[in-house]
Amino acid sequence: MFICIHLWQIAAMDDLHTVADFRKAARRKLDPVAWDYFASGSDNQRAKRRNRAAWDEIELQPRVLIDVATVDTSTTVLGLALPWPALVAPLAYQMLAHPQGELATARACADAGIPMIVSTMANVDLETVAQATAAPKWFQLYCHRDRGITQDLVQRAQAAGYQALIITVDAPVLGRRIADERNRFELPPGLTRANLARYEKPGANAAGGSHLSDLFRTRQDASLTWRDIDWLRGLTSLPILLKGVLRADDAARAVDAGCAGVIVSNHGGRQLDAAIATARALPGVAKAVQGRAAVLVDGGIEWGADMLRALALGANAVLIGRPVLWGLAVGGQAGVSRVLGMYAEDFSRAMQLAGCTNLADTRGLA
Ligand code: FNR
Ligand code: LAC
Repeated sequence: MFICIHLWQIAAMDDLHTVADFRKAARRKLDPVAWDYFASGSDNQRAKRRNRAAWDEIELQPRVLIDVATVDTSTTVLGLALPWPALVAPLAYQMLAHPQGELATARACADAGIPMIVSTMANVDLETVAQATAAPKWFQLYCHRDRGITQDLVQRAQAAGYQALIITVDAPVLGRRIADERNRFELPPGLTRANLARYEKPGANAAGGSHLSDLFRTRQDASLTWRDIDWLRGLTSLPILLKGVLRADDAARAVDAGCAGVIVSNHGGRQLDAAIATARALPGVAKAVQGRAAVLVDGGIEWGADMLRALALGANAVLIGRPVLWGLAVGGQAGVSRVLGMYAEDFSRAMQLAGCTNLADTRGLA
């Protein structure tokens, strides 16, 4: 029975050729409340749209008459060998997309050789995701007001073998997701915030509106500052990256503060709706970092050509967000594998079309 369903899913996926195809198929399959949570940006959804539009506007100047019969898409980010320059972004609540949730994503990532960044807000606890595959993974941390919880999460992540810590710094409070408010968005019965369950008091967050927003207001630390980054560095020997940096001065400060990297991100347009598109913020950040730390970028990256644009503008690699959820919703592990395979192939083709034999050649295209 399971094999039949699996084969049927793969057959159905044969007709899906682009991220947009997967998005449409996922929308048909998902519960509308889960779709709203996954797809939504904040407020008027301007930042989400701007992210996509900004990639479209970046024009590259390809080189011609270069032997691109074979191209090398591989790279190294913080000592991690990547077959092509991408990681899977931290994405909360993956069991809303598929019963195997984060475990399916972890397995597809391991097969593709692409590291997964596991969210604090995962539905499967970080230890179980770590054990699901031997592949390298990073952990995304939301800093709790209760420093004991934050410290425990950091130590658990290091003990479980995560190789880097991503501190999300663009969410002192949650952006306003109107659809979630209307839906009074909350996890359905049976699903938990598995990493946090041990610290949660039952019934502590009952309220109207979006439950997630309420959770952030009561548990996350809106008073987090650069001083806390020092504190976090003192807790762990893992490299620390800041996710949600959009300014050159903040990026330079992150490097000075000893961070191993920054992720140029506006949270997929889910936080400050007025935030600059990541494609436009990236060049200034890359210039400020000057190769002293890793520069990653996310937000609306749907094509191999977008990845090429990101590298041409100074990124070392990109993060893929919602498209992974669309793959997960459509076909579980096989769906995520399909989506990742699509990016790999598309990026390799974009490199060939731009006359790049390796990633160093992407500089100077923009
Ligand atoms: C996110 N993102 C996110 N970021 C983070 O640091 N921790 C998290 O738990 C989550 N959870 C989350 C859930 C969902 C449903 C979405 C859509 C996004 C933000 C994510 O890591 C990434 O920055 C964006 O998704 C990138 O934009 P695209 O690729 O989705 O356009
Ligand atoms: C979100 C949080 C959990 O964007 O990062 O929904």
